[in-house]
Parts: sequence; structure tokens; C-alpha cells
Amino acid sequence: MLPTAELHIHIEGTLEPEMLVRLAARNGVKLPTTDIDELRARYRFTDLQSFLDLYYANLPVLRTEQDFYDLTSAYLARAAQAGVRRAEIFFDPQTHLRNGVPLEAVFAGLSGALDDARDISTDLILCFLRDLGADAAEETFRAALPFRDRFIGVGLDSAEVGHPPSLFREVYRMAAAEGLHRVAHAGEEGGPDYVWEALDVLGVERIDHGIRAMEDAKLVRRLREEQVPLTVCPLSNVALRVVGELADHVLPAMLDEGLLVCVNSDDPAYFGGYVDDNFAALRSELGLDDQQLATLARNSFDACFAPAEQKARWK
Ligand code: HPA
Ligand code: ZN
Repeated sequence: MLPTAELHIHIEGTLEPEMLVRLAARNGVKLPTTDIDELRARYRFTDLQSFLDLYYANLPVLRTEQDFYDLTSAYLARAAQAGVRRAEIFFDPQTHLRNGVPLEAVFAGLSGALDDARDISTDLILCFLRDLGADAAEETFRAALPFRDRFIGVGLDSAEVGHPPSLFREVYRMAAAEGLHRVAHAGEEGGPDYVWEALDVLGVERIDHGIRAMEDAKLVRRLREEQVPLTVCPLSNVALRVVGELADHVLPAMLDEGLLVCVNSDDPAYFGGYVDDNFAALRSELGLDDQQLATLARNSFDACFAPAEQKARWK
């Protein structure tokens, strides 16, 4: 098993159908079906929005600190098996606030599970839902400030097209002033202009996805020269039909261009696998060799926000 860091993982996207049914029963939440096979059969998508619709529809089963603890513990156990030594975990507080869950419960459950994980170094990254707009992001950020010591950075996710990074200039400025790391989803369904904006307007240190950057040679040069990390999620891109099939993926071209790319699972319960499954698919369907896979793993440690002495130990 190749040791790696996982830098693009939405904790809400680790909600397996079995856990969904268990939490729904525990909290008295009604599901359209409790049949695991039927639930899993619904995990099929035509684009990002069709995925997000199901992802948000499932999340009301998360109600208590214990629910967030159980979800996170299950991910960390599975990630350890997948060779993950370091996980920087996204969470979407706006979804839970909308579902009536207080931030205290979200943070207590998430950080309780991280504190109890012995095999993995972990941190949290708070994501703003871009389709809810900039004012909502700022309001959420202010509400999260009492928990400032529980997360190391901010990110931007949810429906990309029509919600460009530049709308979030102010909340990213606030995050920078707090000494937080900054990342953003860009260039998944949105074009290279979204990646430019994330870099130039938001000052992000990493781009999540970024595969459409490959359409812009000038941007590719910038990403290479500055060694901006790109957290690529191959099985996610296939599941959301951002690429036709894995054999068509631009990841090998990104490696050839000298970009600092790494491999991640995004929403593993929904997209057909954890990070080890992504590595396995890159080998079997894209023909990546040991050396390329080792480069991807090494890049993930270069790209992570852990202290330098920890990074040195993993590499
Ligand atoms: N893209 C955008 N938003 C998301 C994703 C994703 O893959 N997963 C969870 N929120
Ligand atoms: Zn993502």
C-alpha cells in the first residue's frame, strides 16, 4: 500500500448507504427506501448537480455530535487501510446549519473523531457552499470564528458554474487575516478562468480538481512555475462525467507537464472508491507505472499543510 496524504475529501461524501440507514433509524429520519442495494443504485450521476442533489438530500440524517463522530471515525478507519497518513478533511457547515444542527455539535463530533484517530495526522478545512453566495459565506465564517482553533483553512465547493471565485474575495480576505490556509474547487466543471480567479483573487494555495486548467497553456505554465498543488479526483471525474472514461483522463498529461498533482477520493461513498481504489484504477485503466504512482503520493505530502518535520518523515 502506497502511503499518501488525502487532501480532497468531503466528510459528508463518506456517508455509505449502510451508515445512512443506521443514522436515519437512530434519528427517526424517513428515507425513500432502506434497502441498501436500492440506495446504492441511486448513486449514479449525470453531472455535478445530479450528485449534489442526492448528497444534500441524504444529509438530514446527521443530527448529533455522535453522528458526526461516527461518520468521521468510519472514514478515518477506512482511510488508514487505504494507506492515508495525513488527511485534510473538508466539511460543509452551511448544510448542517440549514438542517438545524448547531455548529457546536458539528465541530465536537468532527474534532472528537480526529482526536481519537491514532494512525493518521488530520486537520479540518471549512468549506463555503458557493451557490449560497458571498453574504452567506461571510455570515458562516463569523459564526465559525469561536471555533477558529478547530480548523486550519477554508475552501469553496458545491455548484461551480455561475458561482465564480471572485464573488468570495472578501471572505477569503477575512480568512487570510485569521492566518487560515485557503483552497478552492476550480476547473472541475468551470473553465480555466475559474482557476485564474481562485489564484489571483482569492490567493489560494491549492486548487481542488483543476483539470480544466489543461485547456489553457499559459495557466499550465503558471501552475508549473509556481508548483501550485492540484488535488485531482479521478473516479469522481468519471462518476460526474467530467471525463468520459478514466482512459481519457488528463492526469498523465498533467504529470508530463510537471504539475504538482496528487490523487484523492472526493466523495468516496458516492464515486466508487477510496483513495486506494483511485490508485488501483490509475494503474489498471490508465496504465500508470510504479514510478508515476510514487510521484503522485510524494506530491501529496509536498502539497499538504502539515508541519515540515512531519512531511519529511512521510516522504
Ligand atoms: N464538487 C463540488 N462540490 C462538492 C463536491 C465536488 O466534487 N463534493 C462535495 N461538494
Ligand atoms: Zn470536492
